[in-house]
Amino acid sequence: MPSLLLLNGPNLNLLGTRQTDVYGTTTLAEIEERSVAHAKTLGATLTAVQSNHEGVLIDHIHEARGTHDGLILNAGAYSHTSIALMDAVASVSLPLVELHLSNIHARETFRHESHVARVAIGQICGFGPHGYILAIDALVEHLRGR
Ligand code: DQA
Repeated sequence: MPSLLLLNGPNLNLLGTRQTDVYGTTTLAEIEERSVAHAKTLGATLTAVQSNHEGVLIDHIHEARGTHDGLILNAGAYSHTSIALMDAVASVSLPLVELHLSNIHARETFRHESHVARVAIGQICGFGPHGYILAIDALVEHLRGR
């Protein structure tokens, strides 16, 4: 049974009330609950973690080695700034799907570049909370094909 780790980064704990015009009104708890349930329908398990701290996210990525088969990461603004997160993903050699609720390519230019994208098998953005379902599908399919 594939084991997935879903990591959400800074400010995503405020989903539901944060910039609802951009990110919608679904809370992170709802997203995590749906993600766990969807993974289950595919015969996978999913563990969800959120942190506002770069180092904590890196620790979780390190600990995923030997524990999980693949990662889904919405690193929030760290996607655009953190070479350390990118290096952490590269260091554990686990397949990773990069995820954003919003279409980062249609927003400010500083959001167009993602360091995480360099170490991801692919990127899903612009589909709001449904993106989490798409990311789970993509990662499970990738793991099955290996
Ligand atoms: C985000 C996009 C990032 O640019 C932003 O900093 C976020 C959320 C998204 O899910 O659309 O915090 O990752």
